[in-house]
Amino acid sequence: MGEHARNHERSLVDPDGYWLRTAELIDWDVKPSRALDETKAPFYKWFPDGRLNTCANALDRHVDRGFGERTALIWDSAMVPAKRSFTYRELRDEVARVAGALRALGVDKGDRVIVYMPMVPEAVMTMLACARIGAVHSVVFGGFAPKELAARIQDARPKVVVAASCGIEPTRVVAYQPILDEALAMSDHRPDHTLMLQRDAQRAELGPGYLDWDDVVPTAAPAEPVSVAATDPLYILYTSGTTGKPKGVLRDTGGHAVALAWSMGAIYDVHAGDVFWTISDVGWVVGHSYIVYAPLLVGATTVVYEGKPVGTPDAGAFWRIVQEYGVRTIFTAPTAIRAIKKVDPKAAEVAAYDITSLAALFLAGERLDPETLQWASDALGVPVTDHWWQTETGWPIAANPRGLEPMPVKPGSATVPVPGWDVRVVDGEGRERETGREGEIVIKLPLPPGALTTLWGDDDRFVESYLSRYPGYYHTGDSGYIDDDGYLFVMGRTDDVINVAGHRLSTGAIEAALATHPAVAECAVIGIPDPLKGHVPFGLVVLKAGAAPDHDELRAELVAAVRRDVGPVAAFRDVAIVPALPKTRSGKILRRTMRGIANGRTEAVPPTIEDASVLDALKPILRDRP
Ligand code: COA
Ligand code: AMP
Repeated sequence: MGEHARNHERSLVDPDGYWLRTAELIDWDVKPSRALDETKAPFYKWFPDGRLNTCANALDRHVDRGFGERTALIWDSAMVPAKRSFTYRELRDEVARVAGALRALGVDKGDRVIVYMPMVPEAVMTMLACARIGAVHSVVFGGFAPKELAARIQDARPKVVVAASCGIEPTRVVAYQPILDEALAMSDHRPDHTLMLQRDAQRAELGPGYLDWDDVVPTAAPAEPVSVAATDPLYILYTSGTTGKPKGVLRDTGGHAVALAWSMGAIYDVHAGDVFWTISDVGWVVGHSYIVYAPLLVGATTVVYEGKPVGTPDAGAFWRIVQEYGVRTIFTAPTAIRAIKKVDPKAAEVAAYDITSLAALFLAGERLDPETLQWASDALGVPVTDHWWQTETGWPIAANPRGLEPMPVKPGSATVPVPGWDVRVVDGEGRERETGREGEIVIKLPLPPGALTTLWGDDDRFVESYLSRYPGYYHTGDSGYIDDDGYLFVMGRTDDVINVAGHRLSTGAIEAALATHPAVAECAVIGIPDPLKGHVPFGLVVLKAGAAPDHDELRAELVAAVRRDVGPVAAFRDVAIVPALPKTRSGKILRRTMRGIANGRTEAVPPTIEDASVLDALKPILRDRP
């Protein structure tokens, strides 16, 4: 039995023993005496009697052990452009001041702080500062519309919002304050203060309720880390569900720290002193786990990059950074590699840099197509690893465990379930499928440390969304199959969630935006294939009786409505006006069937279809998208 299989088996047979041993990777204020608490199942808890501080584990302990001069964080902005770097000592001191500033603003243990910032070091500092004082951060991605930000403010009810004056996109500067003001106007919750980091690209006019970061943070009394229970919340991260209302994934403190620290060695083979670069955004789970927490927990150097893969200034942006900082491992989404491949198909830009420090490329966030895998493997000459996980799980469910036991790559597969994850493939009735047959991917409970513990303030929705469809199992929402070698192949979502350029979106939220148009009677949004972004949303709209708008104008208005209500990140550009939508006799729109047709898959058309000719009429529209 190989190292991976041995670990996987032990983790499932004796989760308590396995994770208690793994907990040695973390410094505890009070060591846990046991790992798994099943008393309130399905609300499992990890390390119920342990106490720790995640920020102290990410920063102070490395300084205390004599590694204070090691580089903790390198910030490289291709957008400003600018570069800064922080040693562990410097980062600890900065974070302690931010923590002190938050405390002076009245933030206490358990209070929520919304972080609305682009890829600047202060975003990372604010997250760690919250962890330092036991506050719960909730980071909001900058590409969302005010309505999405408002929903998060409304639900999290933050004591303080920490924002930056702007984000910088290649074609425009995105002023954050107007978005924030609009969001606050939509919410009935008022934070006590908003702390604003002024960026030169666009400074904000600070009105009442706003404080300037530079007036508050540099003079703040540094705060020491507070000891919190392992089961106390570390953060809330909102993610798209099947309805328009985002789900507040709640992460605990102890399980998260243990799982992430372990994953760095076992999966990524990255250790103290190595340079690890995750190219994502702090607003996504990938950013939380692998830009901020995991690399710092193990004493590695994390690169925080503000920019795009291409055009900043050219297709060599990534390789310049690898050369300049000696990056050992990159983690990004396949879409970023496709963007580079499109403008540099022969990888001439790769050859222009010295990338000999690079040991591996990890990709996740969407399906890795075999062509992109091949191109990246050839261009970089390093192992390219697909791995699969979700906001909810917090760290990889299936991966090629490079630190534990590197395995042969199979195109299309995220390799094998990682220790801790008991992955099964079932049919609609919950019966396990034989190998090679596609079905719903579920995970037998308990989920390992680091996975979500519930949804913020909504235990019922947690159970209903993930645990009730297949009792005893977590329902991932993805379909796939396991082959005879135990490799997992993830085929795609079975629900109304889509991934656009690695960004997770709810088609329900996009439909809600379309439905606000007075001419729209009903609509459906599905994900259709896109050569760069993997999938993009495509709208089908039926007009109200008597409505006869100019179709070009209407389409432009619908695109604008989605940008207004969901945000530019939805990348919604394509909408067809159709006479009718296919439905079952009970009136349910056949989204899944349409999705199957658009994606070239054969999905059985339900026998209960109301009028098959409606679907037949749509087939060419669905198939002929670019
Ligand atoms: N703030 C404000 N607007 C943002 C934004 C942010 N943080 N991020 C994206 N947007 C905007 C973009 O400017 C664009 O606006 P536009 O319609 O005015 O052009 C729109 O949202 C769509 O953005 P995106 O899907 O990112 O497209 P893009 O053309 O800017 O870039 C990629 C495409 C593939 C290069 C880019 O998405 C990428 O690098 N993705 C991979 C990495 C990643 O972030 N993965 C996430 C999880 S692992
Ligand atoms: P997010 O919560 O944003 O991380 O998105 C999670 C979803 O992205 C998963 O449920 C999958 O549908 C998809 N996904 C993530 N990684 C992969 C992968 N390696 N292969 C296929 N799909 C993936």
